[in-house]
Amino acid sequence: MKARLRVGVPWHLVTLMLLSLPSIIFNVCYGQTDDYESPAAPPPGQDECNGIFLTYSFTSREKEYPKVKNASAQAWAFKSLATIINTGEHELKGWQMFVGFQHKEILVSASGAIVVDGDDFPVAVGNGTIFAGNPQVDLKTAIETAGDFTQISAQIEITGSVFGIKPPGVPMPKNIKLVNDGYKCPKPTLRGKSYMRVCCKKDPKAKEEKKRLKFLPRRYGDLSLTYDVLQAYGNNYQAQVTMDNIHPLGRLDHWNLTWEWMNGEFISTMRGAYTHKRDFSECIYGTAGKYYKDFDFSTIMNCEKKPVISDLPPDRKNDSQVGKLPYCCRNGTLLPAIMDESKARSIFQLQVYKMPPFLNRTALVPPEKWKIDGVVNPQYKCGPPIRVDPTEFPDPSGLDSKTYAVASWQVTCNITRPKEKLSRCCVSFSAYYNRSAIPCNTCACGCDHNNKGCSQNAKAMLLPPESLLVPFDNRTEKALAWAALNKFKVPNPRPCPDNCPVSINWHIDSDFKTGWTASVTLFNWDDSPFEDWFAAIKLDKAYKGLEGVYSLNGTKFDNLNNTILLQGLTGLNFLMGEVNGTKPGDPRVPGKQQTKISFIKKRTPGINIPRGDGFPTRILFNGEECALPTQIPRSSAQQKSHFKFLMVIIMAIVTFILMSDLLH
Ligand SMILES: *[C@@H]1O[C@H](CO)[C@@H](O)[C@H](O)[C@H]1NC(C)=O
Ligand SMILES: *[C@@H]1O[C@H](CO)[C@@H](O)[C@H](O)[C@H]1NC(C)=O
Ligand SMILES: *[C@@H]1O[C@H](CO)[C@@H](O)[C@H](O)[C@H]1NC(C)=O
Ligand SMILES: *[C@@H]1O[C@H](CO)[C@@H](O)[C@H](O)[C@H]1NC(C)=O
Ligand SMILES: *[C@@H]1O[C@H](CO)[C@@H](O)[C@H](O)[C@H]1NC(C)=O
Ligand SMILES: *[C@@H]1O[C@H](CO)[C@@H](O)[C@H](O)[C@H]1NC(C)=O
Ligand SMILES: *[C@@H]1O[C@H](CO)[C@@H](O)[C@H](O)[C@H]1NC(C)=O
Ligand SMILES: *[C@@H]1O[C@H](CO)[C@@H](O)[C@H](O)[C@H]1NC(C)=O
Ligand SMILES: *[C@@H]1O[C@H](CO)[C@@H](O)[C@H](O)[C@H]1NC(C)=O
Ligand SMILES: *[C@@H]1O[C@H](CO)[C@@H](O)[C@H](O)[C@H]1NC(C)=O
Ligand SMILES: *[C@@H]1O[C@H](CO)[C@@H](O)[C@H](O)[C@H]1NC(C)=O
Ligand SMILES: *[C@@H]1O[C@H](CO)[C@@H](O)[C@H](O)[C@H]1NC(C)=O
Repeated sequence: MKARLRVGVPWHLVTLMLLSLPSIIFNVCYGQTDDYESPAAPPPGQDECNGIFLTYSFTSREKEYPKVKNASAQAWAFKSLATIINTGEHELKGWQMFVGFQHKEILVSASGAIVVDGDDFPVAVGNGTIFAGNPQVDLKTAIETAGDFTQISAQIEITGSVFGIKPPGVPMPKNIKLVNDGYKCPKPTLRGKSYMRVCCKKDPKAKEEKKRLKFLPRRYGDLSLTYDVLQAYGNNYQAQVTMDNIHPLGRLDHWNLTWEWMNGEFISTMRGAYTHKRDFSECIYGTAGKYYKDFDFSTIMNCEKKPVISDLPPDRKNDSQVGKLPYCCRNGTLLPAIMDESKARSIFQLQVYKMPPFLNRTALVPPEKWKIDGVVNPQYKCGPPIRVDPTEFPDPSGLDSKTYAVASWQVTCNITRPKEKLSRCCVSFSAYYNRSAIPCNTCACGCDHNNKGCSQNAKAMLLPPESLLVPFDNRTEKALAWAALNKFKVPNPRPCPDNCPVSINWHIDSDFKTGWTASVTLFNWDDSPFEDWFAAIKLDKAYKGLEGVYSLNGTKFDNLNNTILLQGLTGLNFLMGEVNGTKPGDPRVPGKQQTKISFIKKRTPGINIPRGDGFPTRILFNGEECALPTQIPRSSAQQKSHFKFLMVIIMAIVTFILMSDLLH
């Protein structure tokens, strides 16, 4: 049974012809004498558009396996064509087109463009996706190219799978639009069932750049990566990558940077960084080996399409072969500028060999699909490289002259909040007025096949506070005994662990008329220590009342929105890793750091600690957002005390010292 359907409205064919055979059309239709009959009509609407004209047309589909009875679950293979044409008077740099897919589409290929935030094909784009040009990144104007269609337009031939929508329905996207700044797109109009078009115009209100730039302006992002070509030769070039940490709480440790070469390039040498794989067989067996026949591949750095790049360890800083570069070789540490400005930037250099047809000295194409990640760090999402004006480098000898990069691209990355159950750190709450501690959420940092026989969705069981100090495996017995003692229900199956490498406990120690105290304990359940760690604690109602932080370095930053920054004191900047217990058979012992924090109520009138005003609303560890418990400890009866606050602080500190002795 072969169900084949062609949804044929002439527009897309016309567009296809217009675009794929521009030279023919133009030679035949315009390039010759006046005696032509009538040129192929442009798609409707194109002639009235003075701006950027976008179209999407659905070409064909075919039922694919598995064939199912349920029509809305049936998959179809489809083809469609999206086009973008500059019919205006301004050049469009770095075009980006959004297609609002809405039928669980899975793209298998898209020629003429890349999927900006997608991984490898196949890529699920059921919520819409952005395409960017490749290799045609910019669209020139007809005026400056004498109407050369190849330079003013681009087309994306899309193939993929789509679900449901049996014929005669057509699975069209919800909308299409231009993403570039400074343009406004109305709602697209449908022509027939399978052709959609929109004309986007320059927004007259959009601010024009003051300085006339040749390329796009640099952008703001939480992390900025610059790809500067410093030297260009025939078949190879030298590039420098600069990473700038811009977010005040952004951070990376042991960073891994990956990208994708679009045109078969490979890295011959690197300075200031290295790739994890040095396997050159991919070159020898691949196209590079065919083209560079006499090349000695044994000495090259990397041949992968997607290299994994890491910073060099500090002992290579002075190595004349791979080091000797400012801002390199810190083992992948990128700190926020408020901690250490000199460590908020990283640099490395690489020598890149190109493949035909990019052997021209000026044929420079940056790698795409940049991704960067660290250990317990914020999760960054990076945009596509955007051509910017060449970076200026000050003269190293101090002369008032500048050198410029041959070409520069910028990639900006923004911090994304971790999805539920995909954090890398979690928080537990406890308070003096409630005997139970509320542990980290079940699977706060993910659960995998190792977590068999437990429930990934059950609520974490309340614990006696001291059991927060032992690994999850050794808590179970205590949690069960605690549940029996307090007549709590035990979920069956029992909840899974949180699996977090780092956890933080926020405990309210005391609450008095004039003030209150809390203690915060950080646990490292991982084997390796965290150097120069920081924790950022956002306290909405309580922030103004902060009085003192005792055993850690606590700093207030007014630009951080009610957030206190905790770091180890000078010389105590390590949060050690988990170690074996002292006696064989003892539970393993996490690395710990702890402090007491005191608050005065005078500056925060109306604060109600037992009602929960003393709990933080966000906690970040090394920039990574920690998962907070879903509830706070409740008090059965609000207690009030008439002690003098000063005495209380002294008492609290004494208890704290005793407690930390117990904990060590
Ligand atoms: C048909 O498939 C859809 C989507 O997969 C599903 O939501 C729906 O319940 C199915 N209907 C039947 C009758 O199985
Ligand atoms: C689309 O968005 C919904 C809700 O935000 C999300 O659950 C779903 O995973 C997304 N689908 C894709 C393919 O990204
Ligand atoms: C590198 O050289 C500088 C200056 O010569 C010196 O201060 C530094 O300690 C050296 N670093 C290493 C890791 O050898
Ligand atoms: C550098 O990082 C690696 C892990 O990526 C670690 O094993 C090594 O000990 C670190 N070296 C230094 C000097 O911190
Ligand atoms: C190199 O590229 C430029 C512009 O892209 C072109 O004008 C020139 O002819 C090319 N040279 C060669 C040798 O291909
Ligand atoms: C970096 O990549 C290497 C090799 O793929 C891997 O072993 C390491 O765990 C990665 N590090 C991080 C922080 O993801
Ligand atoms: C990052 O955020 C800035 C400002 O909010 C925005 O202009 C930029 O497009 C974002 N970049 C990415 C890759 O999301
Ligand atoms: C703690 O848990 C580990 C792993 O399950 C186990 O090997 C060890 O015996 C337990 N220790 C105690 C004291 O229960
Ligand atoms: C500060 O926090 C408040 C409340 O959480 C939020 O509405 C606001 O957008 C934040 N401001 C900044 C600059 O992050
Ligand atoms: C505490 O941290 C701040 C900000 O990072 C720093 O300026 C100060 O020197 C630190 N103080 C101590 C005692 O470590
Ligand atoms: C910790 O204990 C495990 C087994 O319980 C053992 O394999 C390992 O060698 C011990 N590590 C140290 C540093 O003693
Ligand atoms: C402690 O707090 C939890 C969570 O809010 C609550 O379920 C429990 O009843 C409280 N226990 C007491 C003794 O108040």
